[in-house]
Amino acid sequence: MTIKINASTPYEVVIEKGALCRINDLLKDGQRVLVVSDSNVMPIYGNRFVGAEKLTLKAGEKHKNLKTIQLILKTLQRLGFTRSDTVVGLGGGVVGDMAAFASSIYMRGIRYVACPTSLLAMIDSSVGGKTGVDFLGSKNMVGSFYQPSLVICDTDCLKTLPEREIKNGMGEAVKYAVLTGDEEMLSDCLSADKVEAFIGKCVTAKKEIVEADEKDKGVRALLNLGHTFGHAIEKLSRFKIAHGVAVAMGIRVATKVAVGAKVATVENAEKIEALLDRYNMPKAVEYDKKDFIDAVWLDKKRTTDGINLVLPEKTGVCKTVYMTKQEVLKLI
Ligand SMILES: NC(=O)c1ccc[n+]([C@@H]2O[C@H](COP(=O)([O-])OP(=O)(O)OC[C@H]3O[C@@H](n4cnc5c(N)ncnc54)[C@H](O)[C@@H]3O)[C@@H](O)[C@H]2O)c1
Ligand SMILES: [Zn+2]
Repeated sequence: MTIKINASTPYEVVIEKGALCRINDLLKDGQRVLVVSDSNVMPIYGNRFVGAEKLTLKAGEKHKNLKTIQLILKTLQRLGFTRSDTVVGLGGGVVGDMAAFASSIYMRGIRYVACPTSLLAMIDSSVGGKTGVDFLGSKNMVGSFYQPSLVICDTDCLKTLPEREIKNGMGEAVKYAVLTGDEEMLSDCLSADKVEAFIGKCVTAKKEIVEADEKDKGVRALLNLGHTFGHAIEKLSRFKIAHGVAVAMGIRVATKVAVGAKVATVENAEKIEALLDRYNMPKAVEYDKKDFIDAVWLDKKRTTDGINLVLPEKTGVCKTVYMTKQEVLKLI
């Protein structure tokens, strides 16, 4: 399946079992290729890229920082890459966000191709053009908008993905189900005959929002459902709780706030809770409220006085609500 994303620079998302087997044909436009991957993924899939240069990063969110960006940039410079060459980000969202960010600033922009290998990266982070790194304890604080030239999702990569990372991806998948109201898309979604269609549905949901608001000035904020609280949960857990799972927990907090703010009825909130339960997403946060709200207030979506929160009214209907710190503190 191929989905076209009509962003400022349009590109295609190829979702295909075994796509990495024909990666060398798919990349034929690029002159030279640097494959950026991590220490888990490069040993498994790196050899599919014939004749490419390779850079293996240390795996994990804690390496998603400017130091690693500098390493990618140094490698590109040492290899003498020019704008007509290609960087491939082969891996999960961490590798993807960094390889794309480095691509966006090296010589003010070098061709970037995303090869997402985690479920989370396939359904979410590889599409939409947000790139970046964490900075001084804040998630994705430094970055850019930079669209890939091509996204290649080989669903076979999910076979080597650890169970924990499948659950992580399912957290973001539940987000799409709550946003679109299409709960059915989650059922048995990773089975061989459904996985392509499932990834396609998530990518299409993201495509529609990103095409309407590429630079995140309006409707794209909806994609942050669960994220403002989720980022705080990730931070307070010292990144022991994975991003997608933290987002799912963040949706629980947002649902609670939605009931308190009379955005959602108790009945509709229970339906969202039931959906999160069905996919074994952890129950609500146990952190000290003061620590939690302070961590929430590190979010980029905050203004001096308040924060724009995405709150679910019911599955299929979410809205952005502006609230002060005191108001949020009362409702969490
Ligand atoms: N840019 C965006 O729009 C966007 C959206 C959502 C999330 N993100 C970012 O994505 C990151 C999370 O991404 P993630 O969950 O993919 O984490 P990740 O990149 O750390 O990958 C998770 C783990 O799985 C391993 N892995 C990946 N693919 C594998 C495979 N096929 N086989 C075996 N191991 C594999 C990785 O090495 C890593 O250890 C966060 O930093 C988050 O901020 C960005
Ligand atoms: Zn996310």
